[in-house]
Amino acid sequence: MCGIIGCVGREDETLDVLVHGLSKLEYRGYDSAGVALSGDRVDVCKKSGKIADLRGALESREIGGAAGIGHTRWSTHGPPTDANAHPHLDCTGDVAVVHNGIIENYQSLRDELVSAGHSFQSDTDTEVVPHLIEDALADGADHEAAVREAIAQLEGSYAVAVVLSGDDTIYAARNDSPLVLGLGEDAYYLASDVPAFRDHTDQVIYLADGEFATLHADGWHVSDVDGDEVEKTVDTVEWDPEETGKSGYDHFMLKEIHEQPRAIRQCLRGRVDELTGSVDIGDLGDLSPTGVQFVACGTSYHAALYGAQLLRDAGIPAQTFLASEYATAPPPIGDALVVGVTQSGETADTLSALREARKRGARTMTVTNTVGSTAARECDHALYIRAGPEIGVAASKTFASQLTALNLFSLGTTRTSDSREIIGALRDLPSNIQAILDESNAEAVAETYVDSGAYFFIGRGLQYPVALEGALKMKEITYKHAEGFAAGELKHGPLALVTDDTPVFAVVTGDGEMARKTIGNVKEVEARDAPVVAVTDGQSDVERYADAVLEVPETHPQAAAMLANVQLQLVSYHVADKLGRSIDKPRNLAKSVTVE
Ligand code: M6R
Repeated sequence: MCGIIGCVGREDETLDVLVHGLSKLEYRGYDSAGVALSGDRVDVCKKSGKIADLRGALESREIGGAAGIGHTRWSTHGPPTDANAHPHLDCTGDVAVVHNGIIENYQSLRDELVSAGHSFQSDTDTEVVPHLIEDALADGADHEAAVREAIAQLEGSYAVAVVLSGDDTIYAARNDSPLVLGLGEDAYYLASDVPAFRDHTDQVIYLADGEFATLHADGWHVSDVDGDEVEKTVDTVEWDPEETGKSGYDHFMLKEIHEQPRAIRQCLRGRVDELTGSVDIGDLGDLSPTGVQFVACGTSYHAALYGAQLLRDAGIPAQTFLASEYATAPPPIGDALVVGVTQSGETADTLSALREARKRGARTMTVTNTVGSTAARECDHALYIRAGPEIGVAASKTFASQLTALNLFSLGTTRTSDSREIIGALRDLPSNIQAILDESNAEAVAETYVDSGAYFFIGRGLQYPVALEGALKMKEITYKHAEGFAAGELKHGPLALVTDDTPVFAVVTGDGEMARKTIGNVKEVEARDAPVVAVTDGQSDVERYADAVLEVPETHPQAAAMLANVQLQLVSYHVADKLGRSIDKPRNLAKSVTVE
């Protein structure tokens, strides 16, 4: 998704701060990038392609100024060309604008502006904004009033930042798209996401919808739509800048897979008491929902499937909905809670489902990694997963932390007779995951099956979401066909796809009825000559029917799913690596999907 960075106050360094900030936003996914700096005039440089292409273009330019804005674009309106890259200018070249989100009424605004004589250079919805500002300036408005007037005409979602020639101020506004201010010692920053300026400051202010900010070398100001001052809280970011580096790993994703033990420890810290078998999740423990509806997308949806299963096992009716389909869901019953699982807290589909739930009168909660995110601010309650920043577009450690947090939620809100065993298993998760990371043969399995035509993943109960997640990871980063199925469903259709060129990863832990039934499905696969890779703790005899085995330590069934997932993450990572894929920034994907 698009990313925004802005900086004012470090005239000699503004350009470097912007380009560095853009490189920190690369993880969100993008296809072009650009910067604008305001001095006596506004200088713009923008390129399709990577930040390296922008750096190349900047080498031949003399460009500087005290206030600057930058942008990474993920195409929504028009292809990734230089002309469609942000910043966009008005007809005079005095107004430059970057924008995240979608302006829904852009076509009618554009038609009016074109009829009034404005000339457009791009296919984007964004370009209407500088032209609207130009019109307001021509009517005599001052800079701030002109930007406000333009913003007031926009419908849809936006985080907008503007610079104008002869003015070392950045004007910014948001609606449904995140924007955060950074307060440094000798400069002020703004960005769509904290990593863009975290190297310069840990003091941040999260803007809310409808707020308008001005940043100047001498200070900052936040006001509401009417121009009245808004008192803002300054928050301190708790993670280090190094957490957003690769620390010697070839890819962020591999680093983040290896960070899972630490992420889980952080999630558990201060929240569990193994002796008493109790969990302390603060006020969330008193929610006592009569039922829970989960809404989520992608990997977070798989986490939600797992969370719903935990609650059902503990006697609470729980359902899971794809956030984008929630409009068709039955209304929450009684004192139900609607839980949005979203690592970013900014996924448009999930936010929209949570808003729909509030309209239907439900209490809402988010399970998120991002303090200050829109989901955290809009929901009645928030459970933080504390995974630390995740840069790889494909979610890895945030999934592990979501599952951990959902275990805490289930234990904290229900009575479970084996809570002490579960807490013990959660406590052992970091060392069990570490053992997998140290000893995994996933790379050898990847080598064996790297050229396969497709990959299938099967599991039952709590292993079903893990099978779905295994397939999603494989698709996202290898670009190969992969599907996850409930093990019992295979024979109802998908079995037709199974051949000797389609390895089937079967997640089988424990030796109970579920395991026995899944082994039955494994035999069906084996009989069709498909290679079987068993992910198992060795309690059953699934290994007899497997061509390869990925071992996980024996533990409580709720934790076993999380261990199996680590092996599947590693297989996908190594297949993608062997295929030379862009693992941290897979084609067409974005880290935080802020459009519906
Ligand atoms: O930030 P969220 O957890 O709400 O994101 C939801 C999905 O967009 C996300 O999980 C996506 O599927 C990832 N690329 C998965 O690796």
